[in-house]
Parts: sequence; structure tokens; C-alpha cells
Amino acid sequence: MIPKVLTPLEQLLEGFVFEKINIGHSGAGVWRCTRDLETWFVKADQNTQAIRAEAERLTWFGHQALPVPKRIAHLEHDRTAFLVTQALQGTDASQSLEPRETVVALAQSLKMLHSTNIGTCPFDRRLEVVLPQAQHNLERGEVDETDFDDKRLGIPAAVLLEQLHQTRPKHEDLVLTHGDFCLPNIILQGNRVTGFIDLGRAGMADRHQDLALMIRSFEHELNPHFHGLSNVFIEAYGMTLDPDKLEYYQMLDEFF
Ligand SMILES: Nc1ncnc2c1ncn2[C@@H]1O[C@H](COP(=O)(O)OP(=O)(O)OP(=O)(O)O)[C@@H](O)[C@H]1O
Ligand SMILES: [Mg+2]
Repeated sequence: MIPKVLTPLEQLLEGFVFEKINIGHSGAGVWRCTRDLETWFVKADQNTQAIRAEAERLTWFGHQALPVPKRIAHLEHDRTAFLVTQALQGTDASQSLEPRETVVALAQSLKMLHSTNIGTCPFDRRLEVVLPQAQHNLERGEVDETDFDDKRLGIPAAVLLEQLHQTRPKHEDLVLTHGDFCLPNIILQGNRVTGFIDLGRAGMADRHQDLALMIRSFEHELNPHFHGLSNVFIEAYGMTLDPDKLEYYQMLDEFF
């Protein structure tokens, strides 16, 4: 019998036990893999560009000494990309048993992230870059109108895109943003943030990008224990926010 030749991915993951986590919003599959005392996460996506974007950001965030998982491997095989990371200690913020304390910790971690020097940041998520991407996603049929937030359900995506152009903020208060700063993408142990994950859309953008998505995450039907905690979050972040920008960045997110 001819011995089976293992792919680099199979070699890397030999002996690990896989547990499926979810099929994410974007269609990525995620598995928790354990072997002895080691726990890794494997994210697989046919959108190889999305995985590459995430892998590059993981490396850069790590170099800035920001809390992110260690990157074990980034591989492409059979038109699918794989990102293997080491598990961060703890659980994602949506599972918190102390939501009020968690919200304060999230705000403090976000302030820290937003105070990172962006002088050498290679990832540009300013509106001049992101609005054409929104248009591109719409043209490729990748915008799911049935998944819009309740208040926008029934409005055609093309109408929303037009509104995004009409109401585009004149000034962007640029910081290093996570890009998808919502409860499941932040890992905590107790009330200490151990790291940020799902960084594929991180980069320079207005700070309201992150504030808007976390505030929306608090009100999501899957997170009833966080309902009504936005004010605690905003107070702990310590800045007066622009309600128009919060609305704007939530609307923009419908395209991603
Ligand atoms: N390195 C890690 N350490 C701890 N938990 C992780 C790690 N990677 C992933 N997870 C867990 O797996 C879940 C899904 O991972 P991730 O957020 O990367 O994918 P996703 O949300 O499905 O992706 P996308 O939003 O791009 O579709 C996370 O919410 C988290 O609970
Ligand atoms: Mg996620």
C-alpha cells in the first residue's frame, strides 16, 4: 500500500481533537483543537484574502505588543486558507457572568487599543478605502439584506450605500481600530481582557467604528445580560461620542 502523504496542515494538526465552534458570519469555519495541554484554534475560509488580512494583522498587532493570540500558522491548500492560532486564556466576552464589570474592562481595553501609535500602521480602513469596498461587496452580491439590523430591514442595500455617501462624516478621528469590536471577539479571563481576535478588518479608522459595533453588540438579542449597559461603557471610555457617527458606522457594517 502506498503510504498517505500528509499535507502540511495535516502534519501540523496530527493528534489534535477537533471541536467545531461555528460557521461565522462571513462563512469561515472555526474549530477548537486540543492535544494534551495545548489548545489551538483553526479558522478556515475559501475567502483566502480575508484570512491573509487577518494573519497579517495578527503579526503586526503582536509586534506592537497588543494582546492577540500567537500565530501558529497561515496555510493555503486546495483554494482554502487556514489560520491556526494559540488559544487565549479565558472565554469570549459574550459569556461573561459579570456584564457590568466586563463592560468597564472592554472600554479600558479599547482606550488602550485606540492610544496605539498609528504612524507606521500599514492597514488603512479610512472611509476612502472602505466605502469602495462596500460598493464592491454589493456588486458581488455579498451583502445580505435579510441580515440587516431591525431598523434597516426592508431598505435596499443600494439605498443605504447612497445614504453612506450623502452623510459621510467630514472628519475622521483616526485611531487604530479593531474593526469588528463586538462581544464574541474579545477574550477575557475574569474581568481582565486577555486579547482581541477576529482582526481581519483592523486598521486606521475613526474611533466610532469600534464604539458603534460594541454598543450594538450590547443590544443584540443574543446578549440580553448586556442590555442597557451602553452608558456604563461610554462613561468608562471617557469621551463624549457623536451619535451620528455611531449610527453611520453601524450602517456601514451592514456591507461587511
Ligand atoms: N485564539 C483564540 N483564543 C480563544 N478563543 C478563540 C480564538 N480564536 C477563536 N476563538 C473563539 O472562536 C470564536 C470564533 O472565532 P472568530 O471570531 O475568529 O471567527 P468568526 O467570528 O466565526 O469569524 P468571522 O466573523 O470572520 O466570520 C470566537 O468568538 C472565540 O470564542
Ligand atoms: Mg468573531
